Amino acid sequence: MNLLRTKSVEQSIQDTEEPGHRLRRELSALDLVMFGVGVLIGTGIFVLTGQVARDKAGPAVALSFVLAAVVCGLAALCYAEFSSTVPVAGSAYTFSYATLGEFPAWVIGWDLILELALGAAVVSVGWSGYAASLLDDAHIHLPDAILHPPGESGGVVNVPAIVLVLLVTGLLVLGVKVSSRVNAVVVTIKLFVVLLVIVAGLFFVKGDNYRPFIPPSKSNPSVEGGEAPLIQVLFGITPVSYGWLGVFAAVSVVFFAYIGFDIVATAAEEARRPQRDLPIGLIGSLVVTAVLYAAVSLVVTGMRDYTKLSEDAPLADAFKAVGHPAFATVISVGAVAGLTTVVLILLLGQSRVFFAMSRDGLLPAWLSAVHPRFGTPYRSTVIMGVIVAVLSGLIPLAKLAELVNIGTLFAFLVVSVGVLILRRTRPELPRAFRVPLVPLLPVLSVLACLFVMINLPVETWLRFLAWMAVGAVLYAVYGHRHSRLRRREAVDVPGDVPGKS
Ligand code: ALA
Repeated sequence: MNLLRTKSVEQSIQDTEEPGHRLRRELSALDLVMFGVGVLIGTGIFVLTGQVARDKAGPAVALSFVLAAVVCGLAALCYAEFSSTVPVAGSAYTFSYATLGEFPAWVIGWDLILELALGAAVVSVGWSGYAASLLDDAHIHLPDAILHPPGESGGVVNVPAIVLVLLVTGLLVLGVKVSSRVNAVVVTIKLFVVLLVIVAGLFFVKGDNYRPFIPPSKSNPSVEGGEAPLIQVLFGITPVSYGWLGVFAAVSVVFFAYIGFDIVATAAEEARRPQRDLPIGLIGSLVVTAVLYAAVSLVVTGMRDYTKLSEDAPLADAFKAVGHPAFATVISVGAVAGLTTVVLILLLGQSRVFFAMSRDGLLPAWLSAVHPRFGTPYRSTVIMGVIVAVLSGLIPLAKLAELVNIGTLFAFLVVSVGVLILRRTRPELPRAFRVPLVPLLPVLSVLACLFVMINLPVETWLRFLAWMAVGAVLYAVYGHRHSRLRRREAVDVPGDVPGKS
């Protein structure tokens, strides 16, 4: 049983040329940056900022955003090198298949499902909250039963979240070009709103709210066993809020705000000039959002004492608190539009990872058939759309955001290791983009990801390990037997695997 067989880079690229399994190459560098920004700016900045400032970092949440961006930036360099070398759908999954082997690739594919599908569900629940508050502004009050999942505020099922996911799924089936046009309009609205918060908010900033910038650390006995960050448990520290440990714990949560830039890499097969456009798309979207996040969080914590920030809609609420409810409504409109594109792109990335895995035989092959008219992998899109819709309607997802983060950090870590391996095993491959200072930067990237991961709660680690264990069982039962690469190797057709013959 060869768990580490690798699929050659040439084979990966050749597979994308197969008739009936081919995606259209239609996206430009700008489309990719728009995709990146479209998926990045979302629940992280619109919702988590308030909660994290209040409970973990105070005004220093801006610092947490910057630190998280540095972690992502290191990983982005590795993603850029990889995706410019292996411009094939599937992102970290494809990269791992070309470097670490089939089983690690499966692990990553399974892990990406956690990031993308669960991430989409988390964001659609956030969307539902903003949509409900907008309807409230218009004096339309939906009953709690259809606004919350069971067990939360008298809820039965979160209908708006389900409707959103299904609509977005339909859009994705119609075709990536249609989706990216819709996306461009919505991203513009979202950027406008974010800039509005920064510029208008500046007039209400009070210097007093920044003192102290990093509130002194305070022990927090209400945080019980599994909820404490792993690092605090490992070192026997009583759980604390604020101070530097609080800033680091905040990094592990606001990291969610950067989730998605790697999806630009998952669209590699649909980029017109992947070698040039992917690095621009990846790094461009990261830099733009990092600057905006730091600015928004500085303004919001400057407008309002961090201990009073709202947990659900901190940006809108800060404006209400200074007597400008009209701004709050505009911000809510932007959040509704903004979160829609986040769900759209997370699901797009998800369906493409699924597509790549089924093309390789690790998931059933009929999933990867492309629609004859729309040119999209419609089956995997619809199936995942329905699963995500059910999840978003029924499960309270606040804590699951942390699970999404750990999954993503793990994928970053593997990609960083993969860059080092591919440099050694295939030094001759053309690389349009090369990570500078190898091996230093990829090694720093691995360490940074690990550091953020151990700042996540113990219970998140346990859930992550459980998810991975389920994945390993599925691989043993299905993926391993049906792997196309394994069957190819078994038949051993000369020349069928160009990189190896
Ligand atoms: N980065 C995305 C968000 O903040 C997932 O919602």
